[in-house]
Amino acid sequence: MSAERSQVYAARRVAPSILSADFSRLGAQVDEVLAAGARVIHVDIMDGHFVPEITIGPLVAGSIADRVHAAGGAIDVHLMVERPAAQFEDFARAGADSITFHVEAEPHAHRALGAIRELGCLAGVAINPGTSVEAVRELDRVADIVLCMTVNPGWGGQSFIPTSANKVKRLRDAAPDATIGVDGGIDVETAGAVADAGARMFVAGSAVFGAADPAEAYRAIAAAAGAE
Ligand code: DX5
Ligand code: ZN
Repeated sequence: MSAERSQVYAARRVAPSILSADFSRLGAQVDEVLAAGARVIHVDIMDGHFVPEITIGPLVAGSIADRVHAAGGAIDVHLMVERPAAQFEDFARAGADSITFHVEAEPHAHRALGAIRELGCLAGVAINPGTSVEAVRELDRVADIVLCMTVNPGWGGQSFIPTSANKVKRLRDAAPDATIGVDGGIDVETAGAVADAGARMFVAGSAVFGAADPAEAYRAIAAAAGAE
């Protein structure tokens, strides 16, 4: 990954999730949020096993990578799959700049994070609402991103779990060197509390692409989160 792209993650960012985009015009939808200032595009991968739904794979991630990179942006892959380590290489080749897997799906999280870094990507670990922050305490410095699920993964458009702000605070303590991300139910109402708690990456799907004007929705959530 270029230095410019790794800098993208250093800032506080709202990351639009294409899960809620109109896939019949995916490129245009991505362009809309890039033009509004988005620089991290979140790509949700579901396998029908770790979570019930099946979504997309490296082919679709790769189809938007060039336009995202041309705008100075980054592709953030969120693997909600069993045996995630088997997929790292394909997503890195497709253009992923960060790859996040679930600690619940990978008994060798420490090794898996190292494998992602070896592929030249930032390494992320996600935890479900029912998983303790202790699951990541030993992974500080090994993980670049800790993604706090603020809904149970599997679907877009769910309600933010209100106790998540407190969990973000505890994650800051458990993994002080990682970027803490939040994913699920993030909108203009919920972004502020998790921002105050220490979150720096705010994944938003339906609140962006479900809005009449995704660019305007992106800017409103970014303002609420104090993001760029
Ligand atoms: C949920 C996914 C999310 C999803 C968020 O399992 O990981 O990234 O796109 O969607 P919203 O913002 O609609 O809750
Ligand atoms: Zn996600």
